[in-house]
Amino acid sequence: MRYGIVSDIHGNLEALESVLADLEKRQVDSILCLGDLIGYGPNPNECVDLIKDRAEVVLAGNHDYAPLDKLDLSYFNPWARSAIEWTKERLSASSVEFLLALPLKKEIYGVTLVHSTPLQPEEWNYIITIGDAQKNFPQFDNQVCFIGHSHVPIVIVMDSEEDCRVIQDNPLQIQDGLRYIINVGSVGQPRDLNPLAAFGIYDDSEQRYELFRVEYDIGKTQKKIRESLLPEYLAERLEVGQ
Ligand SMILES: [Fe+2]
Repeated sequence: MRYGIVSDIHGNLEALESVLADLEKRQVDSILCLGDLIGYGPNPNECVDLIKDRAEVVLAGNHDYAPLDKLDLSYFNPWARSAIEWTKERLSASSVEFLLALPLKKEIYGVTLVHSTPLQPEEWNYIITIGDAQKNFPQFDNQVCFIGHSHVPIVIVMDSEEDCRVIQDNPLQIQDGLRYIINVGSVGQPRDLNPLAAFGIYDDSEQRYELFRVEYDIGKTQKKIRESLLPEYLAERLEVGQ
């Protein structure tokens, strides 16, 4: 089976539509979503509806919890907080109902899925450094764990000696005896200085993972952000990918 893995859509409908069209073209069997469907972007309900319709598995991210009063807003920076308040006023009853039911972590198809970290996902910590990864590898049993949250794609591998390192192979051949934490990047607000929408495809029969980047109409999303009176910075950052 081939799985399209998407994360951190953040209400960016143009980016999500572009990624879904690409996944359809690449004929994935299933779509798995690692959370943060909303927050920052101007189309929260539309993104929830599309993911509800297209994804087989959907997890909760911190931005999905925040407008539901499941997370203290003091956790967020001022732009994020302002966008969460904007989103909260506009979320439909059906979006709220859907988001309320999302789990934080899931084991399915032989892999682990989580928005933030396998260790205490409700703390919303990040896996960025080798030290972060070393703390988290013992917290899941599968060979591979897919994550989002930082909006920066990365693959960290741990060998049988429990040494961890970052690897750049793309596509990536998953090898016996090694374990992997794979961040699939962000659909709707990339932060690796590449503004293209990011997502991954995992093929479990080929034991292969590949990160893809696709263009979308950034100008259209920026225009909607500005017309919605969301913070200007949220529009600007999309074109630089930060
Ligand atoms: Fe996010």
